Amino acid sequence: MELIIKPTELCNFKCTFCSSTHLVDDKRTQLSHELIFSFLKRFPNTSTIIVNGGDPLMMKPDYYWEIIRYLEERNMNTTLSFTTNLWAFYKNPEPWVELFKHPLVGINTSFNYGQTRRITKDRVYTEEDFWKVSDLFLEKIGYRPSFISVITEENFSTAIDNVYLAKKMNVECKLNYALASGDQGSSFLMGKIYEVYLQIIRLGLTEWEYNSKQIIRKKNAISTSCPLNRACDETIRCLQPEGDYYSCGAFGDDKQYPISFQEEVIQGKKFLPLKDQAPLAYLKEDCLTCPLFEICNGCKKNISDIKKSNRVQEHCSAMQKNMIELDGLVNYGIH
Ligand SMILES: C[S@@+](CC[C@H](N)C(=O)[O-])C[C@H]1O[C@@H](n2cnc3c(N)ncnc32)[C@H](O)[C@@H]1O
Ligand code: SF4
Ligand code: SF4
Repeated sequence: MELIIKPTELCNFKCTFCSSTHLVDDKRTQLSHELIFSFLKRFPNTSTIIVNGGDPLMMKPDYYWEIIRYLEERNMNTTLSFTTNLWAFYKNPEPWVELFKHPLVGINTSFNYGQTRRITKDRVYTEEDFWKVSDLFLEKIGYRPSFISVITEENFSTAIDNVYLAKKMNVECKLNYALASGDQGSSFLMGKIYEVYLQIIRLGLTEWEYNSKQIIRKKNAISTSCPLNRACDETIRCLQPEGDYYSCGAFGDDKQYPISFQEEVIQGKKFLPLKDQAPLAYLKEDCLTCPLFEICNGCKKNISDIKKSNRVQEHCSAMQKNMIELDGLVNYGIH
């Protein structure tokens, strides 16, 4: 089992595509430790706690030390994997250094070219800013963090540049298409981002981009931090600041398909909340006999976004065109 926690919705950035802007009514709400510990009692084999938000560094370091103490007292080797913009660390690194160096803790960050990732409404988070953050992290913690780039219509033409930057930094990036949640009104078309994955494969750059690497290994390229397989709701859960509970971080952003924490965690039942949702089963009937079924229908949030925007056919055409080309590189059985 993996657990995504969103301790707070607060964030010191103002990204225009942010999916996590409608999580709570009172923006100061914080996820209580009690709920996290109840979850760990119910699922002691939890391999990773993925720490998300808002920005995780809007909480005090003590919040995370309390989780680490809980794990250490029980000899659990559950790890904490943060995704953070690292801005609070950059402004004041010392309170974070010991935590970030802890053997159970791993840090990832986010950066993309274009105008969408913003420190304030009027200030873009630039490559120059990102180098300063990454250099400081390297100096204080000892490695450069890998990063996620969110791709939208606005920055599609510079998507490949993120991979060149990852190569220069010698880290892995992950190009994720924007999902339609929070301030991001519509998703970026999955079929279209495959053009970039193909380009990465053609240019021999897969070492520095996670999703294209998955494609050449014939695993599904994935959109978010979830395992993106059809049975995702068996293996991942998400706890949000108000204690609302989901099997998917992305549907959590929409507050859709919640699970009863009381029944699953306290009473010990098990729920598969997305499994029998007919509209999330597949994009269209043709998919059932298509070799690309697992790819196009791997993520239920993606199915939901594409259907809601009435772009199933557009996605399908883009996907088939790209995948015929990809078949020359990785045999998907498309002819
Ligand atoms: C919600 S953020 C929270 C963590 C942190 N504030 C950050 O941005 O790194 C988690 C990840 O989701 C990405 N993200 C934000 N909005 C998104 C969207 N609409 N679609 C896909 N990914 C998104 C962020 O870039 C980040 O990598
Ligand atoms: S994507 Fe992350 S950094 Fe940007 S506004 Fe959202 S939570 Fe903040
Ligand atoms: S390529 Fe088209 S038919 Fe095939 S799985 Fe994707 S959406 Fe369905």
